[in-house]
This record gives sequence, structure tokens and C-alpha cells, in this order.
Amino acid sequence: MSDDPFSAPFGSLFGDSMTLARLAGGTYDYAGHAQPLENFSLHPATHALHYGSTCFEGLKAHRQGDGSLAVFRLDDHVERMRQSIGRLRMPVPDATLVRSMIIDAVEANAAFTPDPPGSLYIRPTFVGTTPNIGAAAVPSDTALLYVICSPVGDYFKGGVRPLTIYVETKTPRTTPQFGMVKSGANYVMALGPTLDAKRDHGADQVLFANGDDITETGASNFFLCDGGRVVTRALDESFLHGVTRDSVIKLAVSLGYEVEERKITVAELQEWARAGGEVFLSGTAAVVAPVGTVVVGDASIVVGDGQPGPNTLRLREALTSLQIGAADDPFGWMTKVKG
Ligand SMILES: Cc1ncc(COP(=O)(O)O)c(C=O)c1O
Repeated sequence: MSDDPFSAPFGSLFGDSMTLARLAGGTYDYAGHAQPLENFSLHPATHALHYGSTCFEGLKAHRQGDGSLAVFRLDDHVERMRQSIGRLRMPVPDATLVRSMIIDAVEANAAFTPDPPGSLYIRPTFVGTTPNIGAAAVPSDTALLYVICSPVGDYFKGGVRPLTIYVETKTPRTTPQFGMVKSGANYVMALGPTLDAKRDHGADQVLFANGDDITETGASNFFLCDGGRVVTRALDESFLHGVTRDSVIKLAVSLGYEVEERKITVAELQEWARAGGEVFLSGTAAVVAPVGTVVVGDASIVVGDGQPGPNTLRLREALTSLQIGAADDPFGWMTKVKG
């Protein structure tokens, strides 16, 4: 397999170091430094393998123009990781611990960071490890908390190209109480509809719109925009509160767009696309990804002229130039690390 992050599948290459803490007796024990990336030995009855006591985060470190390295919105991802662990009803680690584990992992893997538009994708992970197949209704009392890093290029094959999204109105992405948790179960639940939409409609992603309420895709948040407005679903507990979503909103406001956070129906999306509006997805992996075709039922609707729109590209550029240090960071989003 290629070891070039721009041709290898996203997330399939790894830096050679990791950080690891072990939870036991309610306390996380971390050595305070990175160690070689290596396999774990897990008991076959490991809680996470049977009862899903696992969650993760996804954030990125970007090579800056001066050669240094900086992590995008570190503290927001730390908070979301802590929130996910709490919703698994597991002891929540201190923010300072998760923060140091991420920084130590990035610094140890710094040499693996490709130049922009590549980056170092960071994957904090939590796994409940108690060996007990009778513990379906009991939290694991031991766990591994670890951080691994992956040099990445583009998430969507072919770089910035107009995506095709299939609008799924019947099957929800996940359960309402787990919409805000980045747990593996959510992703395997979204897999069936995603594979079906790929096979039947050539879709890159499924846009979940259960009950005619458009929320998000399997791995990104959803936006409409035009020359003056940026529209996205208002936050509630049913979907993931994307850090990129929040960043796009703040950047859009600073660029003079009016931002509307509210419900969006499938009819509005169709009308928006037909009327020449723009549609895009946002996420750590997806960045800001233009949508060129929306499939509803058997109808394919081309968004505008089917090409990435100027406002989408403007917002993408505002985000990526901030991330690589080519633009100012008025929000204090970048955390410099040694690299
Ligand atoms: C289900 C889902 N929605 C939205 C997002 C976007 O979130 P973020 O911008 O924080 O990466 C992701 C990716 O993390 C995701 O998995």
C-alpha cells in the first residue's frame, strides 16, 4: 500500500507513536509521554467489543507557513471527547489530561505531518476494557484512553469536487440520545443506508432528514448558502455539534454573511438547489465540501450549475488559510505545538 497520504485511503497511515492512559478505580494513569504505537492485547470479553463502551474524537494539526505545527480548536475537541465519555456513563478525564495526551501525541508524531493541503489527523479514543460478558447494563470499570495520529490528504477522493448526496428521509442516522456522542455504534448504524445510497445512486454521502428535518450526513454537518446567507440546522441533541460547523458560522459572520440556524426541510433544499443556491458539508475530515447533486427519491437535482459555488469556496478558503497560518487567527483557534 502507498505510504503517500495523498494517495493512501484517508486514515490508513499512522505515525509511529501514541499516548496511552489506563483507567482503573476511577483514576486515569498516564505516563506523561508518548510511547511506540503498538498492538493491544484485549480479553475476548472486553466490554467495548460487546456492549459498545467506546467513543472517539477527530481533530487535526496543520503545518504552518513557518514550518511549525498547530492544532485546530484543541480545547473544543477535548470538551466534546469528555462529553462523549460522560454520555457512556464512564468517569470523565480532566481536560488537562486529554489536552496533554493530544499535544504529546502530536509532538511525537510531528515528523509524519504532510504539508498543506495535507495534515496530521488526530484520533483520541476511549475503550471500556472490563472483561465481563454479563455487564450489558453495567459500565466498564476499566478503560484505555489513547491518542493515535494519521497523516492525511483529502477525505473525499478527487480533492475539492462537487459531491453527490442522497437524502434519506426514513432511516435516522442514529438514536436521538446518542446523536451528540462520537461513538462507533452511530457510524455502523449509518453504514447500511450509506452503502445502499452508494450502490443505488452513486452517492458520496447520505444526508439524514428523518421526519423531513435535515440534520447531518454520516460524517459532516450540512449548510445552504448564497451571496448573503448561510443556513444550517439549529443545534439540539439529535446530531453532532461539529467544531467545523461552529467555525464556518463564525467565519461567515466575520465575512458579512447573515447566519440562520433553524430547521431545513427537504422541499427547501430542493428549491434552494434549483434556484441556484449553494450546498456544502463541513467537518474536520470533509473541511468545507461542495455538493453538486442532491438525490431525493429517484430524482437527481443539480445544485446551481453543479460546480463548487463561489461562496462555498470563499468559506473554505477562509477556514483553510486560518488553519495553515496564512490568515490571522482572531478567534484564538490554533494551539502551537513543538514540531
Ligand atoms: C456525524 C458527524 N457529524 C458532523 C461531523 C463534523 O464535526 P467536526 O466539524 O467537529 O469534525 C462529524 C465529524 O466529526 C461527524 O462524524
